[in-house]
Amino acid sequence: MSRLFVRKPLGQLLSEATESEKGLKRTLTAGSLVALGIGAIIGAGLFVRTAAAAGAHAGPAVTLSFIIAAIGCALAGLCYAEFASMIPIAGSAYTYSYATLGELVAWIIGWDLVLEYALGAATVSIGWSQYLNNLLNTLFHVTIPFEWSHSPFQVSDAGVHGIVNLPAIFILFLLTLLLIKGTQESALVNTIIVIIKVAIVLLFIALGWQFINPANHTPYIIPADAGVVHLNDGTSVDYSLTRNHGWIGVLAGAGVVFFAFIGFDAVSTAAQETKNPKKAMPIGILVSLAICTVLYILFSHVMTGVAPYKDFLKEGAEASVAYVINTYMPGYGWLSLFITIAILAGFSSVILVMLLGQTRVFYSMSNDGLVPPVFSKLHPKHRTPYKSQWMFFFFTALFAGFIPDHIVGDMTSIGTLFAFVLVCVGVMVMRKTNPEVPRPFKTPLVPFVPIAGALVCLAMIAGLGPGNWTRLIIWLAIGFVIYFGYSVKHSKARKYHEQNKQ
Ligand code: ALA
Repeated sequence: MSRLFVRKPLGQLLSEATESEKGLKRTLTAGSLVALGIGAIIGAGLFVRTAAAAGAHAGPAVTLSFIIAAIGCALAGLCYAEFASMIPIAGSAYTYSYATLGELVAWIIGWDLVLEYALGAATVSIGWSQYLNNLLNTLFHVTIPFEWSHSPFQVSDAGVHGIVNLPAIFILFLLTLLLIKGTQESALVNTIIVIIKVAIVLLFIALGWQFINPANHTPYIIPADAGVVHLNDGTSVDYSLTRNHGWIGVLAGAGVVFFAFIGFDAVSTAAQETKNPKKAMPIGILVSLAICTVLYILFSHVMTGVAPYKDFLKEGAEASVAYVINTYMPGYGWLSLFITIAILAGFSSVILVMLLGQTRVFYSMSNDGLVPPVFSKLHPKHRTPYKSQWMFFFFTALFAGFIPDHIVGDMTSIGTLFAFVLVCVGVMVMRKTNPEVPRPFKTPLVPFVPIAGALVCLAMIAGLGPGNWTRLIIWLAIGFVIYFGYSVKHSKARKYHEQNKQ
């Protein structure tokens, strides 16, 4: 039993870090970490999932959903920061937990991160496909046929069934090629993309504000017994049959828009390249979170004020920001075009970061013997984990091509929320098991902050509903089969442990 909790020796971890640190310079400041965070955070969560959460669950109160999701992230972020500053080396929750909480928890977190990174990339690629179609329509009055840009589970208003989402697979393919060649976004490209992303959010808020129709904000929360709601196209939807509303809807909305915050934890992976990580790391995590929260609340306030929330169930369900501008903001076609192009660029950078993060987590897990060596096989020339990159291309393409975005997006949210709960609990456990390890940044008000963080994340998991719980449980069950079938036999930490006992 105790083997399940075998830990990777901290000394070994730190010496590996020194090895991989060779060549890496400590150049990042708190400011650059904030830019890195915002670069990874703003994406499909805001430009796609906001409308989904408003239409299906929360209505205009999606602003409250953003506040709940932000509180959960801030509390979990404070716990993440303690982890990241304790072991200031490149890595993620997987690496930290291996050294402190033991192999089984590390495995669960690493396995769970596949939902965050790989399925996150798939979700954003589906959003990319929607905005590409919008761009083609605006510029050339053509669109990729419905059946070739949607999953088999989707049917158009005209009754056309989707077959496969080809544009989503295309962008994943293109970025996989880039990653294999080792093209990493330079800090300059990242900064430019961050500026563009923040600029379009601010522009939309500033220009859209005058088009807010107060009637659209009433009622602010979709009543729990909303019943039959009539849509613009003459059809109607019976909300009472299919969806949760009232405060439960706000919570469900929080689980959905939580996706928009995913990525702030990516900041912690840059610890090795950060000057004074002890101070800069928590600042980087919390400030990027705070800036995004303010932007998100204002943005969703304008979105649901300009267009009625029920639009987001049908005609406004795809490329929602462009839809809102084109339909309700006459004379701003240029803004819609500009935002669409910026979104395509911005989404590409989010996908790139996520695909990169995914293969790097599996690279560490493979080096530790928990997943097969193929995941750490490097390309002879480019020195990138090319085989792993290809395998994750096929994996993400399967989801992006054949599953609708709300399912893939919510799986990403629930997987990440679960990892956050483990991190919150982990901080409390470590205070007991490793009290001696120096903690340059300490989570304040322990145990209140970790407990509150775990509870808010659990509430969002609850809001996501039984379908998503089942998918998470199936995913974890597959993970256990692999762990007990493969990882326990190949784990290097176990071998090390056994050798040193003899
Ligand atoms: N937060 C990232 C996004 O919204 C994952 O696209």
